[in-house]
Amino acid sequence: MARRAAAAALAALIATVIFVRRRRRAAEAPQRRAKAAFLARAGLRYGYAASPAGHIDSWRSRELPGLVGPVGSEAIYETMVYLDYAGSALPIASQLAALAVDGARRVLGNPHSTGPAASAASAELDRAGALVLARMCGSHAPDWECVWTSGATAALRLVAETFPFEEGSSLLLPESCHTSVLGMRGPASTRGARCLCAENAAAYAPLAADASAGCASSTRRINHLAVAPAECNLTGDVTDATAVAAALAALNGGSDGGSSRWWLMLDGAKAAASGRLDLPASGAAFCCVSFYKLFGSPTGLGALLVRRDALRLLRKDARRGYFGGGSVAAALPRQVEAPANASLNGAAGADSGCASAGPGSSTLGPQVRSGNTPDCTEDARSGCTHII
Ligand SMILES: Cc1ncc(COP(=O)(O)O)c(C=O)c1O
Repeated sequence: MARRAAAAALAALIATVIFVRRRRRAAEAPQRRAKAAFLARAGLRYGYAASPAGHIDSWRSRELPGLVGPVGSEAIYETMVYLDYAGSALPIASQLAALAVDGARRVLGNPHSTGPAASAASAELDRAGALVLARMCGSHAPDWECVWTSGATAALRLVAETFPFEEGSSLLLPESCHTSVLGMRGPASTRGARCLCAENAAAYAPLAADASAGCASSTRRINHLAVAPAECNLTGDVTDATAVAAALAALNGGSDGGSSRWWLMLDGAKAAASGRLDLPASGAAFCCVSFYKLFGSPTGLGALLVRRDALRLLRKDARRGYFGGGSVAAALPRQVEAPANASLNGAAGADSGCASAGPGSSTLGPQVRSGNTPDCTEDARSGCTHII
């Protein structure tokens, strides 16, 4: 009797499960049809089927359980649809797990200290810096320097505060730029620079030419800075940086440089997250990036990439700006000048966990999802594998 009752209960349970599943499939039918139509339109451009990680639908629920999964997947938390890729990438579950395990296993100290833990951290920073440069500068990496910052804003600010702006200098910004770029006006104008605003990429050359003409009678060389977003975070518009750099270089004259010299800084924060930036080809001397935009974690880590011939321009000025922390080899209380060889690197590399994130690379690579074009999958994945 009891057995019969148990069998009946089991049969009822199975019937209920089948019924619920059928209802669910029926409810999903319009979604499935819409997705099939979408896939037919998008083809291989959606889902990165050819990538080593496999089609995004096969791993999205597992790696990003807080997001609504693909149609038909078993929901885990199912809370959100996330579209703001350019704002910030989301770290995936296996990446976070690998970083946690690694953080517990490795002993990495303050790289500004001494001893085995500090040396290990320094080595990790060097390794990560070399990989960032290899990715962004390829075979030209030795011509570039990676300065760790807490993000793209901090890198832009560092340039604004250390570039040799003076009376006669110009800071040329685009009309359409991130507020972090606009913020450069303060430090530049405080030191006498004129701030100019270009309506579009074509407007850089005439504005720069006017500024150069204004310095024609100067007895010494005046430095000017133009900043361009490699890709606009608002509109997605891409700047032809090479054309801007060539127009500026034409104003710089021959090897004697004339009486003024233009330098180009690229805001690569958005562009690096949605494609590969070829810095040497761009003609820029400075570029800022932010790593949470590439792979979500760690946050608070970015870099200023500086071409070595432009490195000498950037000087910390302890009288006008902040000088201390990780950048200090030795500082005396009664001496206000920063040492001539003061490092641009602040404490960001140590504080941000860059070094501790380093060893996560091996477990991170396979399943990083990426930006808004299929090619970006490869880019973001290799960025992760390479950088952290
Ligand atoms: C184009 C661009 N530049 C700069 C930034 C500032 O980056 P961070 O948050 O690393 O300071 C952002 C951030 O959204 C951006 O999109």
